Parts: sequence; structure tokens; C-alpha cells
Amino acid sequence: MNRKNLKRIEFGDFQTPDALALDICRHLHTLGVRPDAIIEPSCGKGAFVLAAAQVFDTAHTVLGCDINEAHLGTLRHRLAQHSCAARIQLECLDFFTADWMKRTRALSGRLLVIGNFPWVTNAAQSVIGGANLPEKSNFLGLGGFEAISGASNFDISEWMLLETLRWLEKRGGDIAMLLKTSVARKVLAHAERLHIPIAQARTVAIDAKRHFGAAVDACLLALRVEPHAAPSYDCTVFSGLHEREGKTIGRRHGLAVSDLDVFDACSFLAGKSPQKWRSGVKHDAAAIMEFTRSAAGYTNGLGETVQLEDTCLFPLMKGSDIGSDKAWRNTFVLLTQRAVGADTRPLQTLAPLTWNYLLAHAQRLDARASTVYAKGPRFCIFGVGDYAFRPWRIAICSLYKALRFRLVAPIEGRPVMFDDTVYYLSFETEREARCTLAALENKHARALLSSLIFWDEKRPIKTAILNKLDYSRLSTASTAQSSLF
Ligand SMILES: C[S@@+](CC[C@H](N)C(=O)[O-])C[C@H]1O[C@@H](n2cnc3c(N)ncnc32)[C@H](O)[C@@H]1O
Repeated sequence: MNRKNLKRIEFGDFQTPDALALDICRHLHTLGVRPDAIIEPSCGKGAFVLAAAQVFDTAHTVLGCDINEAHLGTLRHRLAQHSCAARIQLECLDFFTADWMKRTRALSGRLLVIGNFPWVTNAAQSVIGGANLPEKSNFLGLGGFEAISGASNFDISEWMLLETLRWLEKRGGDIAMLLKTSVARKVLAHAERLHIPIAQARTVAIDAKRHFGAAVDACLLALRVEPHAAPSYDCTVFSGLHEREGKTIGRRHGLAVSDLDVFDACSFLAGKSPQKWRSGVKHDAAAIMEFTRSAAGYTNGLGETVQLEDTCLFPLMKGSDIGSDKAWRNTFVLLTQRAVGADTRPLQTLAPLTWNYLLAHAQRLDARASTVYAKGPRFCIFGVGDYAFRPWRIAICSLYKALRFRLVAPIEGRPVMFDDTVYYLSFETEREARCTLAALENKHARALLSSLIFWDEKRPIKTAILNKLDYSRLSTASTAQSSLF
């Protein structure tokens, strides 16, 4: 990649088209946003500076800032033909080191912070050797950004928007920012945790492909901060700038809810799953631990065909098999343990061919990256326990964008194992499994689960969501009528 493209990535430099910025400002105006002063903190070539100055014509100041002097030069040039130029101030600065409190204090009246922060993650920065990052240690005195994000990967815009909320938490004001939809949700969750007094929140979907050529779910996040109003972290989601009807998302019982009306209507089922949903086996060595069976023996991912006892071999179905409803493909997985932490040495006598096979591949198995393998018995695996050996299962693939449960019968008298992209419940009898499947397919159960799923996420189906459904309540509650159904 050439230097120019690297810089573009490091600075998340995707300029908003003028027409979109104007549409957004007009939209905010119809919502009653009437700022006295406006800040565009990473204004680039100024689409929002110009649009905001035009639409909010009673604002006394529009402050546009950017780290890129060339962009500001372009904007100065554009201003020369603009009647609003006298109210516009421009400043070249680095968002991460600027004294924003000083700048915001200097702007009297109601403040609107508007724009489109850089679209880049800290992980992307480290891949390209970029340095356009916040100083983690001085963030809000919370002991580092990672402490609150709970993840080492974060979007720069997530950090910037939280900083922006701090400017307004005491004085109030409005924020309107283009963001990845997933970032908008994270910011709302952070705001709730940090007790930032959000009085109103809405997102409006933006076609990022059309406007930025980016294949990402994006939105306008519009927040009203009011220090003296009762805070609410529910957020109305609109599918376009001209849509009048939206659905409300928020948080309930510690979980993000993608449709509060549906969740509230089905909340009689929100509790604890009678059986804990588990994820499939984790071994981090597919080339060695997974096989295809043929007349010649078991062939591993390295292309070696070997003879093994069937003691430790179980039929295997992967997330893609479960998600796309495929039949079993004569594949097996080698399980070295029946419970996490169990001693693996008895295999030396119980299954000597298997033990010798493991020894032959010990170099690769011992080098598995995660430290959990180094701490456990040699050749250990995860995702096993009594539950893993019950014959019947109901499985779902966490990566597929469909709420489709699949009944999985034992194969050749053995329970079917899954990889760790599959979540499942297990049962001793077919009858139990079928009854539970019917409960999971009940319309109220599906509605509750759907109301907790955000389909734009990479792994939309999570155990935390599945475990929230108390399907045992269905027998008594299915007669309860909800206004929605
Ligand atoms: C996604 S672009 C959006 C530009 C403008 N807000 C718009 O809507 O057209 C992000 C902008 O952030 C600027 N930027 C990146 N890192 C910055 C930093 N550390 N401080 C200030 N501006 C920065 C880039 O130069 C770029 O103009």
C-alpha cells in the first residue's frame, strides 16, 4: 500500500459529501436543535462546517478543527465564496492533545458538536504502524480505555465521542456524529456506565456504501445531553433521515435490547435458561485433531491417513454445517478428555494408537498459542464435561444471521461434537430434545431472543442471550396474551 493510502487509513480520512452533511443538519433542525455555538472537531474539508453554518443561522460561532492543514486550506478556499464565513473559525490541532475544556468554555450558549470522526481502530493503527491514538493512561481517570471498553480493540471514534460527552455533561448540549452503528451502541453503554446525563438518543441509518464506499453499518448518532433532566439510555432507531417511525433499543437486565417494545411484551420469558447453553469443543489444532474417515483410515488436515482406536473419536459438525443445515460429512474430532482438566495419561494404555499419534504431533500441540493449554494436562482441550456426552442436542451457529435451531441426533451411537462457533443444549432422550426444540420455536420465545440480537454484529448469537430465555415458563405463560401477537 502506498504512503498516501496508509496516511488515509491512519487518519480515518473519509470526507462526508456536502449533500449528506446538509441533509443531516436540516434533519437536526426539524428535531428542534438550535445551537448558539457549534464545534466540528475533525472537520476535514468542512462539509459539516458549511452545512451547519448555513442551517443554524442564529449560531454566533462555528469552530472547525482538524489535524490536517491541507484540508483546512481547502476549507478556507471554499469559505471565500460563503456568506457565513464571518462566523466560522478554523484551527489546526490534534484532537488527542488539544485543551478542549478551554475551547468549549470560550463558546457561550448552547453547544452542538457535529461531524464525522476518523474511522479507524487501534488494531488497524498497530498493523500500519500509525500513531494517531489517544494517550490511554489519561482517559477520564478510569485506568485506561481498555478498562472500560473491556476489549483491546477499539474505534478511535469511540474514544473521541466519549471525550466529547465530557464537554457537555455539566453544561448540556447536542451531539450529532456519523459513526459505525456498533460504535454508537458502545458509546451509549459507556454513557450509562459513566452516568452521563443523556436525555434523548436516536440513531438514523446512513448508507455508508453509497456515501463513503465503505461496507459497514453506519449511522448518525444524535444525543441530547441535559444535566438536570432524568437520564435515559434508550435510543430510537430510524432507518433513514426521512423516516418518522422508529424502534427503541436500550438495555434491560444488563443486556443490550434491539427492540424494547418486543422485549417488554415478552419479558415474562426473560430469566435464566433451565439448562446452560454451551459452546462446542475448543482445541486450536484442527489439522491434527479433526479427521475425515475413509476406507483407508482417518485422514487429518495435514493429509496424513492414520489408524486410531475409536475410543476418543466423535462425529464432528462445524458451525457452517449447522448454520447452513448440511448433513454430517463423515468427519470426526479427537477428544483427549471427558472433563476439563482431566488427566490425559490414561490414554497411553486405553488408546495406545491415539496416544502415539498425539506424541507424533506433540511439537505442534505443545506450541498451541493460548496459555490455557500450557496450564492444563498435555494435549488438553476445552468445551467438554458431562453435558458434552449426552446423546441428543439442539444446536445453533453463532456466526449465522438466522435464529435457526437444529435438532442433532447421535451418529453411529455417539454424540455429535461441534466446534466453538456452535452453541448447544444436550439431552439424554429424543423426547426431551424435541420438547425443548418446540419451546425454542415458540413465537414468544423467538420474539424475546430476536429482541436481544443485533444482526449487524459479527457474532450476533451469544450464550448470554440464549441463557436469558427461561423456556420452562412457556407451558404456563404461553396462554398469556401480549398485545404484539
Ligand atoms: C472521517 S474524516 C471526516 C472529516 C469531516 N469531519 C467530514 O465529515 O467530512 C475524519 C477527519 O478526521 C481528521 N483527523 C484524524 N485524526 C485527527 C486528530 N487526531 N485530530 C484532529 N483531526 C483528526 C482527518 O484529517 C479527517 O479530516
